[in-house]
Amino acid sequence: MFFWLIAILFLILALLLLVALVFMVVASLKGAPFVPMGQALVEQVVELAEIKTGDRAIDLGSGDGRLVAAMARHGAQAEGYEIQLFLVWWSRWRLYRQGLRNALVQQQNLWQVDCTGARVVTLYAFPSMMDGLERKLQKELAPGARVVSLGFVFPNWQPSVIKGKVRVYVR
Ligand SMILES: C[S@@+](CC[C@H](N)C(=O)[O-])C[C@H]1O[C@@H](n2cnc3c(N)ncnc32)[C@H](O)[C@@H]1O
Repeated sequence: MFFWLIAILFLILALLLLVALVFMVVASLKGAPFVPMGQALVEQVVELAEIKTGDRAIDLGSGDGRLVAAMARHGAQAEGYEIQLFLVWWSRWRLYRQGLRNALVQQQNLWQVDCTGARVVTLYAFPSMMDGLERKLQKELAPGARVVSLGFVFPNWQPSVIKGKVRVYVR
């Protein structure tokens, strides 16, 4: 009896993992895949973002929420927007575990996020998204807002700081 209970639980867990995996693969085909930043890069991005207490800071395509958590630890009102539901719930668990009440993660397509009022926007996107993101952020961000991009460049904006693969743009 005990054996069957364990076997059924194991089967349910394996099925859940499989469903999550399928969701991640399908969602990845629609945009930037989930490739999390290493912790050293997370720290570098947060430092270059120059977060001040209370800043609205947004990670567009927030993956497992590691950057959202780091920005919140630095005093930001941190927001993450992520398309993959499994990653959204994983991020929320991470924020809860760390007791970060000044952070939230929503399941939302990043193109529909209104970034008005954000002082910091971070992204680790995909080359084909950079043109559209530049136009979106140009419209929504106020002068002085900082955009920190890992890996990929905007077509027209000039970075004010380049450190390895990280570029900082000041709107
Ligand atoms: C390269 S990962 C970066 C994750 C996280 N920002 C980090 O640095 O660790 C890109 C993330 O963007 C998400 N993503 C891709 N297209 C998206 C979209 N249209 N809206 C919201 N999230 C998206 C992917 O699911 C993935 O988790």
